[in-house]
Amino acid sequence: MNESFKHESVLPDETIKHLNIKKDGKYIDCTAGGGGHSSMILSQLGKKGLLIAIDRDADAVKATIKRLEKVKTNGKYIVLKDNFLNIDKIIEENVPEGVDGILMDLGVSSHQLDRAERGFSYHEDAPLDMRMDTEETKTAYQVVNNYTKEKLALVIGRYGEEKYAGRIASAIIHKRKETPIKTTTELAEIIKAAYPPKDRFKGKHPARKTFQALRIEVNKELEILEKAVTKAANLLKPEGRLAVISFHSLEDRIVKVAFSTLEKPCICPPYFPVCVCKRVSRHKIISKKPILPTSEEIDNNRRSRSSKLRIIECIKT
Ligand SMILES: C[S@@+](CC[C@H](N)C(=O)[O-])C[C@H]1O[C@@H](n2cnc3c(N)ncnc32)[C@H](O)[C@@H]1O
Repeated sequence: MNESFKHESVLPDETIKHLNIKKDGKYIDCTAGGGGHSSMILSQLGKKGLLIAIDRDADAVKATIKRLEKVKTNGKYIVLKDNFLNIDKIIEENVPEGVDGILMDLGVSSHQLDRAERGFSYHEDAPLDMRMDTEETKTAYQVVNNYTKEKLALVIGRYGEEKYAGRIASAIIHKRKETPIKTTTELAEIIKAAYPPKDRFKGKHPARKTFQALRIEVNKELEILEKAVTKAANLLKPEGRLAVISFHSLEDRIVKVAFSTLEKPCICPPYFPVCVCKRVSRHKIISKKPILPTSEEIDNNRRSRSSKLRIIECIKT
């Protein structure tokens, strides 16, 4: 592991096994993070093999370059700072013949959470930022201080699945009338106080769900995922595989729905007695049920506890 970038890869063996790495294959790691999965892919590549590792976070790109430099391999690699929403452009420019495997390991890295100044964590005081790509303009500060009460409640309710979204939105609006809400701990305290006393001190921290929601909103995580999963699956070569690791039900639902739409591409209205669109599926779901971490992995890496791996393959015609 890189000394300055802490992130333990989740479901490492299961992911690599199901990507069916071929020595001469071309692979894309859409979420390079600390370069953990990338280094495992690269180590299996031969002379004609290629790995393209992407991350929208400049720190992750630096960490991945450092990590991949140390991998014993004959394979080639490219590390790009980009958004995986642009996967079609990236493939067209670098591997126009298509790819044999694509990986998306969603969410934030431990590094992003641990670096207080990035503003992802409610445990440490920092400016409200939460941008994965610090070149983007929208920060959590803007969401918290500029959104209407209705929009805030919607974001917190939808992306945080927070039952007290309305109360929290009202508390934020009330507080920011006095002065803008500037830091993570300030916001965490407002959320805590908005929670009814009976739930304030039990279970997980009251700010956990709201912080998840804000992070998803700032980084447009679900909008991007929805578009990118289908795009990525359609860029695979025959027998190529797309593996997606998700960390919460909102992400997993998007992946599950996208995979089943790809497998059954019929677009006839549900009341049609027979299919008339005659669209042919090019994909087969490999993981009928999501692959979960073993209890041993969960004991060693708490972050893996909510992970789910799904895989889809492009059919050989
Ligand atoms: C869970 S970490 C990946 C860890 C990595 N698999 C490893 O083994 O070290 C998720 C990474 O995805 C990146 N990311 C999230 N959404 C992205 C997007 N739309 N485009 C590119 N990178 C993204 C984040 O910046 C973060 O570094």
